This record gives sequence, C-alpha cells and structure tokens, in this order.
Amino acid sequence: MILNTELEHKGNLFPSKVVSYRKDVDTFYFTTDNYVVLQVTVRRDSVIRFRYSTKTIFDNDFSYAITKYASEGYNHLELTEDETHYIITTAKLICKISKTDLRKSIYDAKDDKLICEDELGFHWEESYEFGGDIVKMSKVSQDSEAFYGLGDKPVHINLKGKRFENWVTDSYAYGRDTDPIYKTIPFYVGLHHEKAYGIFFDNTFRSYFDFCSERRNITSFWAEGGEMNYYFIYGPAMTDVVASYTDLTGKPHELPPLWALGYHQCKWSYYPESNVRAITSKFRELEIPCDAIYLDIDYMDGFRCFTWNKEHFPDPKKMVKDFEKEGFKTIAIIDPGIKIDMNYSVFREALEKDYFCKRADGPYMKGKVWPGECFFPDFTDPEVRDWWSGLYKELIEEIGVKGVWNDMNEPAVMEVPGKTFPNDVRHNYDGNRCSHRKAHNIYGMQMARATYQGLKKFSYPKRPFVITRAAYSGTQRYTSTWTGDNVATWDHLNIANIQAQRLSMSGFSFVGSDIGGFAEQPNGELYARWIQLGMFHPFFRTHSSGDHGDQEPWAFGSNITDIVRKFIEIRYQLLPYLYTAFWRYAEEGIPILKSLVLFDQEDQHTHYRNDEFIFGEKILACPIAEPNAKGRRMFIPRGDWYNFWDNEVWKGGEEVWVDADLDSMPIFVKAGAIIPKYPVQQYVGEKEIKELELDVYYKEGKETSQVYEDAHDGYDYKKGRFSLRDFKLIGKKKSLTIQQFKAGKYITPYETFKINIKGLPFKITKIDIDHDLLDLKKVKVNGDNSFVIEKEFNRLHITGK
Ligand code: GLC
Repeated sequence: MILNTELEHKGNLFPSKVVSYRKDVDTFYFTTDNYVVLQVTVRRDSVIRFRYSTKTIFDNDFSYAITKYASEGYNHLELTEDETHYIITTAKLICKISKTDLRKSIYDAKDDKLICEDELGFHWEESYEFGGDIVKMSKVSQDSEAFYGLGDKPVHINLKGKRFENWVTDSYAYGRDTDPIYKTIPFYVGLHHEKAYGIFFDNTFRSYFDFCSERRNITSFWAEGGEMNYYFIYGPAMTDVVASYTDLTGKPHELPPLWALGYHQCKWSYYPESNVRAITSKFRELEIPCDAIYLDIDYMDGFRCFTWNKEHFPDPKKMVKDFEKEGFKTIAIIDPGIKIDMNYSVFREALEKDYFCKRADGPYMKGKVWPGECFFPDFTDPEVRDWWSGLYKELIEEIGVKGVWNDMNEPAVMEVPGKTFPNDVRHNYDGNRCSHRKAHNIYGMQMARATYQGLKKFSYPKRPFVITRAAYSGTQRYTSTWTGDNVATWDHLNIANIQAQRLSMSGFSFVGSDIGGFAEQPNGELYARWIQLGMFHPFFRTHSSGDHGDQEPWAFGSNITDIVRKFIEIRYQLLPYLYTAFWRYAEEGIPILKSLVLFDQEDQHTHYRNDEFIFGEKILACPIAEPNAKGRRMFIPRGDWYNFWDNEVWKGGEEVWVDADLDSMPIFVKAGAIIPKYPVQQYVGEKEIKELELDVYYKEGKETSQVYEDAHDGYDYKKGRFSLRDFKLIGKKKSLTIQQFKAGKYITPYETFKINIKGLPFKITKIDIDHDLLDLKKVKVNGDNSFVIEKEFNRLHITGK
C-alpha cells in the first residue's frame, strides 16, 4: 500500500502573519503570508461580518439567508493599529485582529469589556474526501457563559455542554436529544456577564457546533465545505441580538391573515369529502372555534401533486366553497416528489423543461416517496421556482384553497440510507452550480419560497399562508412552520414547548407543534394539556397520523371537549393581543415567544429556565407537562404578576407552586399591562367587532402597552391603513392615568372600549376623560371596575380614596 504521508500529517492549517491590508468603504481585507484573506465588513455598529478565504480569492458572494432588506449603516468606523493588532472601532464594538495569526477579540466599545474571543480562531483542514476545505472556528467560552438558539434542537434551552450537527433530516418520531432533525438554523446566542451576542454561521454545508462539549471552555463550529463566513451580532440585550439576526435574515414579508392565527384542525387523513364535512360540521355543532381544515396527501390522485382524487373529492370547488361559508379555510398539502408518470402533466412538463434534479453524471435523481418513484424539481433554480409557483393557479384561484402546507421537503426519500438525496446530486443554486452537499440544507426553504410566490400571486389581494417542515435561516420570510412528526407523550409536550421557544429566539416565531402528538395516541389529559400549551403558539394546529385513532377536540369525552373549547376560546379572545405581537415581530424582529432569559437576562435564574415563557410582551405562561398534576412549581420572573384566573397579585423573582387542575394552567399577566380582547368567535370574521375590551392591570408605576389592528387581511396596512394605539399607564396610590397615542389611518369598526380595571387599590371617586366626567353609575364594580368609553380618548384619569 502506498501512503501519502505528507497528506496524512497535514491536519489543521492556520493563517500566518498578516502581510498586507486594504480598505474598501466598509470592508477591510487582511492578507497573510500563506494566502489567507480575512474580509471584515461592518454592516452596522453592532453587526460585523467575517469571511475567510484560504486561496486569496473568494467564492461568489451569494446567500439564501441574508435578505436584501436588512438594515445597513453605522455611526462610526475607524481602523487603527498598534504593534500587535489592527483595531476596528464602531460606535458599539471594538474588534482587535492579531497581526501574527488573524485571531480576533471583540469588546464592547462603551466599557471595553471582552465579549467574544478567538481561541485557535480560524483554521481549516483540506478535505481529501470531498475536495475543498473543512472550515473551522474556535472561541474561548467566557466564565459562566450560556448558549441559546440553533432552531429546532429538542434539547434543554441552554445548549452548553452539547454538540450539534446541522443537516436537515426527516425525523419521524424523533425524541429528546435526537440530532439533527428538520431544520438548520446555524445561529446561536452567547450570554455572559449580562451581555449577549450572536453568531450566525451562514454556511449551508453540513455543519457542527460544539458548546464546551469536547473541551470545557471552548466553543467551536465548523462545516464540511464552503467558506468560514459568519456574522457577529452584538446586543447587549438578547432581544436585540435576536431582532438584529432576524433583520439580517428577514422578517415575514407580510403579516399573516388574522384567521391563520386561529385554531387549525388537521389529520392524516381526512377523506373522503363526507368525512371532512363531518369534522367541520361537528366544530360548529359543538361551538368549538376553528378557522382552518386540512387535506393531507389523500386528497390527491395517487399522491400526484396538483391533482384531486375524484372518487373521494368529486367536486373540490364546491366543497371548499361550502367550507368557506361556514368560516373554514381549506389548506392543502403539497410535497416535492413528482410521480414518474408520462400521463401526468406536471411530470411531463417538468421533464420537457428539464426542471428535475440530476445525478452528477447525468441521470435523474430518482427516489421513493408517497407516490412511489419520483423525480424532484430543482427549487434552487429560479426558473423552476417560477414554474412551481404557477402550478398553484388552479388550486388557489379556481378551487379556493387558502393555504399550502409543504412537507417532506428536507428532501425526504424513503428506503435509502441517509433518507435524502445522495451528495452528488447537482443543483443550480441560483446560478452558483453545486452539489447536494451545499444545497441540501436550503432545498426545503427554496421549495417553500416558490410556494409562497405562488400563493402571493394567486391569493392576491389577500395575504398568502404557507407552512413548511424543512427550513434554513431566512425561511421565516415566506412561511410558518411546525416541528414535524412528534409523538403523543408527555416528554414531547415538553419538547414542543422548548422547540417553539428555541425557534422563536432563532428568528422563526410563526411556529407550532402537532398538538396531541403525530405518532401514537394521547389520552384526554395529555391532549388537553397540549391544547393549553398550543394556545400560546402562533401556529395553533392539532395534527396526527391516521393510524392512531381520533384526535379531534371531542374525541376524548365531553369533559375534555369543554376544557379544549375553553382554551381555544381564550385564544380567540386574545387574537388582537397576538396580532399585535406578530406585528412587532414582522416590524422589528422581536420574537413572539420569549424564553425567560430573553425577558430578564440580568437575572441568572432565568438562564436555565425551560418551561416558562412570555407570550407577546405581557403574558407569562407555563404548561403542565406531566400526568395527574394539580399544579406545578414554576419560576415567576421579577416584578408583579396577576394570576390570570383570579387576579391575585404575585411577587416574582422566585420559584413558586401554582395550582392548576386540568381545566386550568399557570397564566400570569404583567402588572401595568393593557390587554386587548375580542369576543369569542367561531372563526375570524364571524362577528363584527363592536367593542374592544381592554383589560387593565393596575400597577403602581408606569407601563406601556400597544394594540395594533388593521383589516386583518390584504395589503392596505402597508399603505398606512393600520391603527396603532400606544397606551401609557401611570398608577399611583390614589389614581390611575391612561394616555392614548394613536397612529395610522385605519378606522376600526368599533366606537368604544370596554375598560376592565383589575386590582385597583382604591375606591373610584372620579373618572375624567379628556376633562369630561363619567357618570359613576355607569361603572360596574363586580371584581373589576368596568365601564365603556369612546375609543378616541387621549387621557383617562381615575381618582379615588
Ligand atoms: C409526514 C408529515 C406529516 C404528514 C405525513 C403524510 O410524516 O410530517 O405531517 O401527515 O407526512 O403526508
């Protein structure tokens, strides 16, 4: 055997000393003696991009993740040098780059404190297996540093001590610690000494992250190809890190239609038509609110996408229309595999146009999925995406389907090792031709993007609604998502809770789980507890596999039905509150679900809390995730909180026991909050909103709240037709003042607010609304102090004794 010993012993390679540098506006290039180039681009005062080449030249600069709408610009930028370092200073950061080996350390410009420091820094290994480099980065983990993010990893919220792989994978019945699963979001947040920063490693190859697992104080990440290319994002507030990351990779292009925030019912599979009708009727009969009904793969003819099984669904247009009359929007599944069948027009067309993925030396990529043997469109080709988006015309425009659910887009392939395409498959990658090694992690994202483009076109003037299973960073611009094929166990309820929080802090807030579990069957108690959690997830859908019994709200007896109804009704009441949180997310990138660490990072107790989370800005929730519980211990973050059920005020900052029988769960509202509520409706738009209820939670001190509204669909809001109410509450011992500031041109359909004041510590003697006195006989004192006022007030002033 001949061994090439020189190759064998090469191992890790490192940059050597810097021999030259140059500046080009906001970008610096540092070149070393051994031809490594470090490119540093200052995108914002708090966002710096680092990119390395080992061969002097860089690849074409192309990313599916970074949005063209990302904010850019800085207040200050300067490069200085001393004997040992180049020093880049912005208004927020100081970055020192070693002249001997390119190692970097980054400091807060305000107090000079160290935020993040390279250990070995950039290094690489030549890959004789694939060609190119395995690119690596290692950093020193700081004292008591905690780590968060990384998308859908089903592990403890704090990632410290663990190692992860990023490779989008179909993971039927995954469990705690299964890795990797459906999504690749190579973004994490580090938090130490009350300062948070983020790292987004924008590399689509198979990548790895190690948070002090292999070596105690070292955090590292690497990828099996491509460039070492990452963004450093500074806070110091973790919410700002997440918002900046979301700004960089994109906020949802539009708000969802309000109905999409209602309750959705799904099962594999509801067919034939009579069965689906029985389900929708039952919802109305039992008065359980529901806005969306799903058709899984069985609606198709032999699982051929964009066809109908005419035996089971003889007149889909009529069916969809009938559902619409009852307030149901129909959502249909579409998978990427296209059945090989010369009599099937979608297949023939794609074949003729050469739109299917091919293996390296020519043959088509053939794989088995639900329809049997399939070919797969190359969604990384813009022309293919355009074609794919056009295929939705009939489904959306003619039949009236309102949303599309993209599944199996990892892409999943059955009966092969690795459950996906082989590495040699070729992709267009928007003109940057490459193999599946590079395109795998973004394949599903590009499918969802093409679907989104179709829905956007054919749903117009209404808003599109898409769901995807696979995702890479940036997918949140186009679609909502769910956490895939989970299992009906208590542990999975816990996992769903963590995954939804984790995805939210990874820029993807429009998220939910298969409520009740996809595989196996929950009992009524588990289902009810899961509905309670799901009520707080922006995407709120029950889904399950067909072979495990019924999973509708009425499948577990009337006691459970009543509990489920009660919680779905609360969700419908809170729709204006959730919509406001969604608007903040779409506008500013603020996550809708906030793990406690995001809410109060200065309190170390929050750094390890998994279960409790903040929904929107003001509501604290904590699911019950074990059987037979009459309550649970939970951590209430600092501040005063009202128990949602009885308005008792609790002091936060500690762990407490909270009672919660099966018909209840721990929910708290932040003191000072103003929570908007709609009446219970069976579906969005069932009722005209005649009055907006505002639940006001008295606090001694100040608090601001917002209520955002618009037409709940369509694009007028983008032209200023929205209504934004900013409320400022000032509570004193014997008075309460609420000021209202209004923006936007949308006229809400109601004229009045019903104000319900909770926890008022004094007896009202006077209510002054913009200097007019309210007749106190109009105040109902039944626990709350309730009264009705005109919606356009500027200042409400309540005094008492
Ligand atoms: C996959 C999906 C699941 C769906 C099923 C059939 O397992 O994750 O949600 O019901 O395929 O389409």
